[in-house]
Amino acid sequence: MYFRRVKNIFLPINYLGYLLKAKGAHGIHSPFVYELYHKVVKESPEYYDFAPIEHLRQRLLHSKEVIETIDFGAGGAGKKNRNVKDIARKSSVPAKEGRLLFRLVNFMQPRNMVEMGTSLGISTLYQHKACPMAEMITMEGSPGTSTEAGVNFKVMKADSINRVVGDFAETLPVVIKNLKYVDYVFFDGNHRKEATMEYFRQFLPLASDQCVFVFDDIRWSSGMSEAWQEIIQEPRATVTVDLFSVGLVFLNPTQVKQHFTLRY
Ligand SMILES: C[S@@+](CC[C@H](N)C(=O)[O-])C[C@H]1O[C@@H](n2cnc3c(N)ncnc32)[C@H](O)[C@@H]1O
Repeated sequence: MYFRRVKNIFLPINYLGYLLKAKGAHGIHSPFVYELYHKVVKESPEYYDFAPIEHLRQRLLHSKEVIETIDFGAGGAGKKNRNVKDIARKSSVPAKEGRLLFRLVNFMQPRNMVEMGTSLGISTLYQHKACPMAEMITMEGSPGTSTEAGVNFKVMKADSINRVVGDFAETLPVVIKNLKYVDYVFFDGNHRKEATMEYFRQFLPLASDQCVFVFDDIRWSSGMSEAWQEIIQEPRATVTVDLFSVGLVFLNPTQVKQHFTLRY
């Protein structure tokens, strides 16, 4: 169990409930989810790209740089100087989740991907490196943080990643308008129930039959848990998978609507 910052005081109880429900390979009867479990959820050998991304994380964790950021906390956005090392420690996906995202993208082979919440670009790199030919759009509201991510993308030879800078409230409608379809969305910014539901509703009409939506921190707060419960009720969400901290939503209409809680 891992979380970057947690608001949910009932998390240990939730985790026990999750462990009691979570299935391993034996309890899975859907061939698609069985394959997903073995190829994505279960840890597999290292991929070549993991080490350079973790090396970059180590560099950021030891950085002495201070950047101006915009904090999108409760009560609106405000400017704040922050150490890069603190952002790397508090905001970036942990290595275990980065590897999961990599395997998921590698398995799904999306034609395009959108990420809400770039921060320093650690999760962006895990997803991009798994399918470098896919168009990747990553969205971040804090210009200083996005610029820092841009430097990281250059260093990692990932210049094709398209950074969109600005408050999601303004940038998301533009991104949506310019897309004909979407195969993959990672929701990892603004973990509020209403915002999460709003982003989900905006992307839903664009979702292709092969699309997967990935929601991070689905138990981060009671609001996020409620959002997740509403998302899995959506009729277009056919296969949904609870991995405790991350929720996967597959939108393939040929699949039977079914919810899984898998051991991760
Ligand atoms: C948890 S961090 C993303 C971490 C990143 N995905 C990773 O794992 O490396 C969330 C990011 O979303 C951005 N964010 C939050 N609310 C936002 C909003 N309303 N508009 C634009 N960006 C926002 C924050 O500035 C922050 O950098």
